[in-house]
Amino acid sequence: MASLAPPADTLPTAPAPYSPAELEQFGLCAERMPQHIAIIMDGNGRWAQAQGLPRIEGHQRGVLVVRDIVEECSRLGVKQLTLYCFSSENWKRPELELKLLMELLERYLIDERPEILRQNLQFSVIGRREGLGEGVLREMQRTTDLSRGNTGMRLCLAVNYGSRCELVDAARALAEDVKQGRLNPEEITEEALADRLYTAGMPDPDLVIRTAGELRVSNFLLWQISYAELWVTSLCWPDFDREVLLSALRDFGSRNRRFGGLSS
Ligand code: IPE
Ligand code: IPE
Ligand code: MG
Repeated sequence: MASLAPPADTLPTAPAPYSPAELEQFGLCAERMPQHIAIIMDGNGRWAQAQGLPRIEGHQRGVLVVRDIVEECSRLGVKQLTLYCFSSENWKRPELELKLLMELLERYLIDERPEILRQNLQFSVIGRREGLGEGVLREMQRTTDLSRGNTGMRLCLAVNYGSRCELVDAARALAEDVKQGRLNPEEITEEALADRLYTAGMPDPDLVIRTAGELRVSNFLLWQISYAELWVTSLCWPDFDREVLLSALRDFGSRNRRFGGLSS
């Protein structure tokens, strides 16, 4: 598959973060920005089908949108962006789509590496490793290792991710710790469980964005999104852009989050 990225040596320096004055122009302010945005990037297939193109072309367009939105979130001062790329249930798809999706993911990981490093992003992946090809695992690991010392936005890809699998893995880890005598059952707290999720050490998402209109969470971060604000657009992921992101952020900024308490 042809490379999607410009050669690394032609990359200009990373774009500067937006100033408070620029944020104000967009109708935003730093205090009312989500720290962690999680996105269910849905509708690639529908987008392609609507234009009479094969589904994979929708996925390819989706990758280009990922590039723009990652950069935009980083400039906006978002601390973490988690992108749902492939769910543990997506293995039910036809073999050819799976093969092309995995090739596209490997290509993305290789092509975006210089960009991720240039933008000082801290890269990580959540999900089960089993089932993923050697190439994908190798490229994920490389970017994770190379970006380890970075101090900018955290970019986390959910690949072969399913929240129920994650909770099962965490329950097994707790059970093992109890069995080995490292943990008493009374010490199983929310923190102890959260520490054994793939997302250990990450803040919970404040905002979940879903494209393509479905009003469901499709096994994404069930534990972590307990108090996240939900924002759904009918636009398919390949049509998602900076303007739509800014509207989601303005909407988020106007919400009254109560966390079970009363309005302040
Ligand atoms: C989201 O787009 C990408 C993945 C799940 C891999 P879809 O492929 O689910 O697109 P639709 O929902 O069929 O349109
Ligand atoms: C959710 O989309 C998973 C990703 C975006 C990776 P799906 O297309 O798999 O979700 P459902 O099947 O419509 O719930
Ligand atoms: Mg879908």
